Amino acid sequence: MAASRLANVLEKAIGHDTGAAARQDASSHSDRVGNRETMKVLCWMGKNDVQIRNVQRPRILEPTDVIIKVTGSSVCGSDLHLLHGAMLQMQEGDILGHEFIGIADEIGPEVKKIKPGKRYVASFQSACGECYYCKRKPSTACEKTTSDQTRKILCGNQASGFTENSHLTGRSRGGQAEYVRISLGDVKLLEIPDSVPDEKALYLNDVLPTAYNAARDTGVFPDGQTAVFSCGAVGHMAATFSLKAGASLVILLDAEPRFSFVKSRWSAQHARKLKLKLVDFKLLSFGITTRAAAISELKELCGGRGPDCAIECAASEYSKGWLHRLQLVIGLESDTGETIYVLVESVRCFGRCGITAVYVGYANQVNLDALMEKGMHLIGNGQTSVHKYWRDLLDMIEKGDLGPLQMVSHRVTLEDLDSVYHAF
Ligand SMILES: NC(=O)c1ccc[n+]([C@@H]2O[C@H](COP(=O)([O-])OP(=O)(O)OC[C@H]3O[C@@H](n4cnc5c(N)ncnc54)[C@H](O)[C@@H]3O)[C@@H](O)[C@H]2O)c1
Ligand SMILES: [Zn+2]
Ligand SMILES: [Zn+2]
Repeated sequence: MAASRLANVLEKAIGHDTGAAARQDASSHSDRVGNRETMKVLCWMGKNDVQIRNVQRPRILEPTDVIIKVTGSSVCGSDLHLLHGAMLQMQEGDILGHEFIGIADEIGPEVKKIKPGKRYVASFQSACGECYYCKRKPSTACEKTTSDQTRKILCGNQASGFTENSHLTGRSRGGQAEYVRISLGDVKLLEIPDSVPDEKALYLNDVLPTAYNAARDTGVFPDGQTAVFSCGAVGHMAATFSLKAGASLVILLDAEPRFSFVKSRWSAQHARKLKLKLVDFKLLSFGITTRAAAISELKELCGGRGPDCAIECAASEYSKGWLHRLQLVIGLESDTGETIYVLVESVRCFGRCGITAVYVGYANQVNLDALMEKGMHLIGNGQTSVHKYWRDLLDMIEKGDLGPLQMVSHRVTLEDLDSVYHAF
């Protein structure tokens, strides 16, 4: 949390970039960004503290804005990073939620494609549609949708803004709310046909494109073995897309209760369930790190050499060994690299490792020797460029080739949404 506060101070000191295509600083609850009517929202109030509150409804601030009446939203692993205080630049009162679907309620005078009353899903990432990256499709590298300079300093380049995912990645209000303002609505919204219900379309804004990209970008080998670290929603669907890409075996690493959940859904959705193996990383944990046991387990399952590829869909903040717990506490690293070095050491020579889980800074003890000597392809999958994939995925859902509901674990009303944050 100290790092998060420090990042807020740093950003204030260096000042925002002034070249953003859409208005920033719209996350607060002041009169400047709201109208007189109120609505229910879920707010981040501090580490491990989220609360339902009443705030002003949003209003159109810029001609390209759209106001969406939210009909469904979801809680993803990235929201848990905010809850855990692992993300930089959170501020008390931030309205959470970057995954939502709804009906266009009001549109700004320069909006061309969006029609009031129609249903839309909003991509978690913003995009201007016009910069170098947007024109070439990796729109999460959009150079025009966040004014935050700290991100630029941390990564060497600007990245696109996201709907509420800390001020580091944009300064907009989130969609775990009754209404939400969408800037650059023509680019950020995808119309949903009547044949696809909200619940199936909702995940087009993040989880489905992310899991699809994880398997594609890492380069799952047809007829090869893929190890997916995590049975969360992203891992579950990355495993599904790995099978679709032709993997002969998928090994999922996580623990209970996720195993029982995935197993129950897996058999219903996939006749090829025999291609699934589950490895409990918690049972393998011991000593300074989890390294040796997880690696030997994966080697054993894959002919002594290890899987052909592995995808990291867990997260940076989940440390197991005391060495990394200590380093995180005293600030010697901001992320633990434990999962990454298990990937690099367990995958076979000249295999591929993809990182889809979120990391926010620096990690120690990553085995660069193994990386180089084994000819390992270590791939940052990036924040997913939703616009690149969402039409193809919608098409798969319409044809019945993709069943997004297999990963849904809880259904609650907005009033009870805070409880979901503590259910994992
Ligand atoms: N790149 C992107 O565009 C993008 C988009 C969405 C989410 N994400 C990130 O993907 C990650 C997963 O998201 P989610 O919604 O599935 O999260 P989730 O919280 O539902 O699941 C995370 C799972 O990881 C497991 N886990 C923790 N440590 C592990 C380890 N060492 N090995 C195996 N499993 C471990 C946990 O038990 C949990 O089940 C998060 O970091 C999220 O921020 C990235
Ligand atoms: Zn998400
Ligand atoms: Zn752009």
